[in-house]
Amino acid sequence: MKILLVGSGGREHALAWKLTRDDPTVEIIAAPGNAGIAAIARCVPTKVTDLDGLIALAKAEGVAFTVVGPEAPLEAGIVDRFRAEGLPIFGPTAAAARIETSKHFAKSLMLRSGIPTARAETFTEVAAAKAAVRMHSLPVVIKASGIAAGKGVVIAQSLEEADAAIEMMLVEQAFGAAGAEVLVEEFMQGEELSLFALTDGSHLLPFIAAQDHKRIGEGDTGPNTGGMGAYAPVAIATPALMDEVMGRILRPTLAAMREAGCPFTGLLYAGLMLTADGPKVVEFNCRFGDPETQALLPLMASSLLTPMRAIARGESIAGFLPLTWEAGASVTTVVAAAGYPGRVRSGDPIEVPTDTASRWTFHAGTTRDPQGTLVTSGGRVVAVTAVAPTIAEAQRVSAAGAAAVRFAGAQFRRDIGWRELARG
Ligand code: AMP
Ligand code: GLY
Repeated sequence: MKILLVGSGGREHALAWKLTRDDPTVEIIAAPGNAGIAAIARCVPTKVTDLDGLIALAKAEGVAFTVVGPEAPLEAGIVDRFRAEGLPIFGPTAAAARIETSKHFAKSLMLRSGIPTARAETFTEVAAAKAAVRMHSLPVVIKASGIAAGKGVVIAQSLEEADAAIEMMLVEQAFGAAGAEVLVEEFMQGEELSLFALTDGSHLLPFIAAQDHKRIGEGDTGPNTGGMGAYAPVAIATPALMDEVMGRILRPTLAAMREAGCPFTGLLYAGLMLTADGPKVVEFNCRFGDPETQALLPLMASSLLTPMRAIARGESIAGFLPLTWEAGASVTTVVAAAGYPGRVRSGDPIEVPTDTASRWTFHAGTTRDPQGTLVTSGGRVVAVTAVAPTIAEAQRVSAAGAAAVRFAGAQFRRDIGWRELARG
């Protein structure tokens, strides 16, 4: 069986790894993939937003189904286009992807359906947005409605900072069309959780919870990044909490999406804040999270391939047993290039440690130069995931693996999973 995998990051490397682990006979074609994915899949240089090229590729290869990693092709309507051609595909339609691509859409859906989330209003006018800021207590959160590569959220500690964020988005248009609408949102205090669920639009197969580490520095300090690491499971995600999230957040969200005429199929990612008033939604994503996927898939005991294929074919997953997980813990440590999350240099030769039975290197920004040498080609270069009986051991093995990744200026955090360790 052939599977087309769209994307080129660590998330896609982990997906390719898991799908081949589930069925070693599957042949993965990755568009465009990266140097690590190339070791287990055939990489084709078609861009993730070249929908015509991807349709032609899926047809020419006769793939059983297609899996979409990143949000950009989902926003561009890849699922709508593939379905119109009768090609099975795993992911939401463009209309359903709005749960991530339009924070305004997601917020109205949640407020309308009573799904717990921070109070917020949407504005296109500077004066009205600034007036709304003054109705909140500080800090107040200012967000670009559209996709702004993780940079569209400002937690303003003062009115001046809030006003500056509004002007940056609405007047200076720092995020282009993505910032043409801004949300002024109540600040929520608490610990964050990432919760994934596979869904056919009506039924859910939830994952265990994970936590990611967005800041560049140890102890969660310094600028935000695409993610410097992740771990699972998370002790505070108790069965009772998971039941509450299923009942008050995930199931009502799917119902609201069906009512809105855009049932959500694929992988729904809920970014949650565990507040004193219970779990609330920070954001939804319409795809697997990165780096959480790299921590979660090595812990997944049951097949990912089987439910993914059913969902891609438009079948029900009502009869599927819950997903099962290995005992123990998983830690993923991202190794980033010097300068990340700012400008980075590409083309530095890399050495990576050989995988073991419980530690794997997933590639993100890697490629081969004309001589065939593995070189850097992005901010997040690779990540090392370790699975071990305890979180402390997983952290130690993951960090040692990250230290064995060699390239000029490599940087990584040694404290991924610190919150879990602090719980004792
Ligand atoms: P988002 O792009 O919506 O996920 O926001 C990025 C990050 O900003 C989140 O992971 C949170 O850490 C933080 N954040 C967003 N909204 C809020 C909020 N209302 N209260 C507190 N923190 C928030
Ligand atoms: N880990 C955050 C994200 O994938 O958006």
